[in-house]
Formats: sequence, structure tokens, C-alpha cells
Amino acid sequence: MARLVIVANRVPNPDEQGNPRAGGLAVALGDVLVPGTIWLGWSGARAAVTSTVPRIVEDRDVTYATIDLGEADYRSYYQGFSNGTLWPLLHMMPGLTTYHREDYIGYRGVNRAFAQALAAMVDADDLIWIHDYQLLTVAAELRALGVQNRIGFFLHIPFAPPEIFEILPPAKEVLRALCANDVIGFQTEGDRTAFLACIKALLEIEPLPDGRFPIDGREVRTIVTPIGIDSEGFSRLAGRAVLRAETRRMTESLVGRALMIGVDRLDYTKGLPGRFGAYERFLASYPQHRRKISYLQIAALSRSDVEHYDELRNELSHKAGDINGAYSDFDWVPLRYMTRTASRTAIAGLYRVARIGLVTPLRDGMNLVAKEYVAAQNPADPGVLILSRFAGAAAEMTEAVLVNPFDVDEVANAIHIALTMSDDERLSRHDALLAKVYSSSAEAYCTSFVAALRDVRGIPAIELRYGGSTIKMRA
Ligand code: F6P
Repeated sequence: MARLVIVANRVPNPDEQGNPRAGGLAVALGDVLVPGTIWLGWSGARAAVTSTVPRIVEDRDVTYATIDLGEADYRSYYQGFSNGTLWPLLHMMPGLTTYHREDYIGYRGVNRAFAQALAAMVDADDLIWIHDYQLLTVAAELRALGVQNRIGFFLHIPFAPPEIFEILPPAKEVLRALCANDVIGFQTEGDRTAFLACIKALLEIEPLPDGRFPIDGREVRTIVTPIGIDSEGFSRLAGRAVLRAETRRMTESLVGRALMIGVDRLDYTKGLPGRFGAYERFLASYPQHRRKISYLQIAALSRSDVEHYDELRNELSHKAGDINGAYSDFDWVPLRYMTRTASRTAIAGLYRVARIGLVTPLRDGMNLVAKEYVAAQNPADPGVLILSRFAGAAAEMTEAVLVNPFDVDEVANAIHIALTMSDDERLSRHDALLAKVYSSSAEAYCTSFVAALRDVRGIPAIELRYGGSTIKMRA
């Protein structure tokens, strides 16, 4: 039977069930992690050289295959080209983008190592599903090794329009390599449009209106499959978490004040300095709310050895100190700021008791915090989601209070709107958002991507199981 082979930079550690290291991805792909599935990725370890023979761990009949990265490759592939070049560029922040030719060479080498490890593991009818910007050229390396399987790629972050993408010196080469996939998936229609505009402008290929395009005698299909969450599961988790001691401790410490929560990786795309600035503006412009609100920002440390992340950390510590210095009272601290990670359960409980979910990235592929915040609410007394219009989630979640995160006054005003919103409006916005979070689920994401992949060229009959149900594939 054909298997699904997932390839992503990170691999969930089967021992960390409650707080998987691969973050949202491991949760989103939960439905396809059925017996027989293989997941290949980086072990997280740095060695003398990059390995191409993976280490195998079996857990519940899922095979986790990991390779180590050599120290030099870690610097060029991970710190350099992935997170110093592609990450800011695709988030449309060319000013933060750096490029070094040797980093690109290292990136290509690591993508080749992933392909070599994979080629030795796959059977002819396996479906290969590659994830994210760290692995843009794996499919091309697989084809060069003679792998003819159906290969799909999903980009979790935004795609940039040609005017920005062409800043990348090897832009055409990277695009061509990406086109070795049979199916390329995006979070939003806007990302797909930007990608197709690059295909047209840089490769001079005219895409069809439905998003397919021909290249080298083959056809590539593009699709839009927004990533989602297991809403029912998360909602149950939040319902249970609210009864736990740690959530109760939090509620007691609020002494009746409204909680506003933000949960992010400490990353410059998340717009945290602007968010702190907006909160400061809110405290200054709406003195009637002082002492009645407590803002908790969890900003888990991330990529600390990549340029800009350390500066950001310092900037935020400084700003948090300034806000608390200026506005705290003997018995009230307006901002609680922590850079430690919290467990998924603890966060679910905090979302549920928070009156406002503040999600204001400057640019984001999707942002699952927005979806989790909505799923965690008590439907009889829900909180209000404030969401950046530049998060992929905003394309679907139009009933949130949408803001431009670059405008501190607008965000400050949104906090005021959320705190004073009528019960009817709060309930009706939440009902609409919840329905969307339920329909655009993790299961729908996996099902539609795998269905598109299975539809590629002469397909043998296969079966793939999702959760409890079996999906029969066309012969
Ligand atoms: O969402 C983008 C992403 O890079 C994922 O691919 C990754 O798992 C997550 O952010 C965390 O980043 P990193 O793997 O660099 O710690």
C-alpha cells in the first residue's frame, strides 16, 4: 500500500506529546500520522558533517527518520539562507534580508542530503509531501536522483510578488527547482497569486486561470489549502485546562481585570514592538481602562543565534520595562511579559479566560494562534479576537476585529472596541469565527492536499487512512 512520506525541517519528538517541538505542524498533520507514515527531518543535532543515512525511531507504527546537520551546514542552510534570506524576503521585509552565495550553496547541499536520505526510503507509489521554505529545492534533487513519485510541496509562510522575490539572486533557479513538484500548495489565494506572478515574470510561463502551468513538458498544479487546527480537540483541552490549578492561579491574580493575551515565537515578523507600542498608546489614550486590564505576552525565544533576533529580544525587554515603569501601580502591573515557553494545556486554559486575543503580526503565513484562541473560547461568553489583516488567517477570519499592525492608534482603538463590545456583537462575531475554524480544520487541510497529490498522473489504487475514516483513492 502506498505510504505518505512527510519531509519537514523539524520532526516531532514522539516523547514530547504535550508540547511537540515541530509546533503547529505536528498538530496539523496529526490526522495523517497513521501507521505506515514516514516523517523525515532534521534531528535538531549538530555534528561534524551532515548525515544522509537517517536515524530511525518507530512510534505507534509511524517512522520518524532524522538526519544531523554538520556545523557549517547549520550555519549556511538554517541560519543563513533559510532564516537570514528566505524568511525575511518571503515575509516582504527586504530591508532585513541578507544574502551570501555560500549560504545558498550550503542550502542546496542540505536539500540534496534530505533528498538522498529520502530516495533510499521511498517505494515507487509513495506520496511525498515536502513542507516549507527550508526545503524549496528538495523535489528537484529527488528528480535528479531519478525519483518519479508524486511529490507535493506546501509553503507555510507567505510568497512574495516578483518585485520582491527577484531580489533573491538565484530567484529563477529556486523557482525552477520548486517546479519539480507536481503540486504546490499555499495558505491563501494572495500567496498563490504572488507565486504565479513570479512564474510569469521570471520564468516567462503563462499560468492557466485555474493555477496550473506547463514546464519542461510536465504540468504543475497549484492549490490553496489553508492550514487549520483540531478545533474540537483544542476546545476540549481548553475546557479541561480552565479547571487546572495554573489557570485558576492566573484568574485569581487578575482580581476581576480583563486578560488580554498574545502568544508568539519571538520573531520580528510578529510585530511585537509595534504591539507593545499600541498597548502603551492604549493606556495613554484610554485612561478609563487603566487598572482594568492585564496584558500577558508570551514570546517564546527562537532562533537566538540568527541576526536580528537578539536585538529584538533586547528591544522588547526594554519596552516592557518602560511600559511597566510608566503605568504600574502598587497593586497593578499592566504588562506581564515572558520569554519561556508554556505547555499547550496551560496556553489553552489562558486563551479561554482571556477577554481579548491579540494577534498582530506584520506578515504571517496563517497564524494558528488566532484559530486556537477562537476554538478555546466558552461559546456562551466568548472573548474578542484582534487580528492583523496581514496574517493569512485574516483571509478567512473576517469577523475578527481586523487591524493594520503598523498603525498603533488603530490597534489601541481596537483594544478599546474589544473591551466595550456589546454581548450580542461578541457572540455573533464568535459564532461566525468558530464555524470557520471548524470547517477549515487540520483534517480538511490534510485531506485536500493529499487528494490533490493523489490525483497526479497515472495513479495506482491506494488507500490512506485519516483518523477513523478510510479514504479510497481512485485507480
Ligand atoms: O512557521 C514557520 C517555521 O519556520 C516552521 O517551519 C518551524 O517549525 C517554526 O517556524 C519554528 O521555527 P524554527 O524551526 O526555525 O525554530
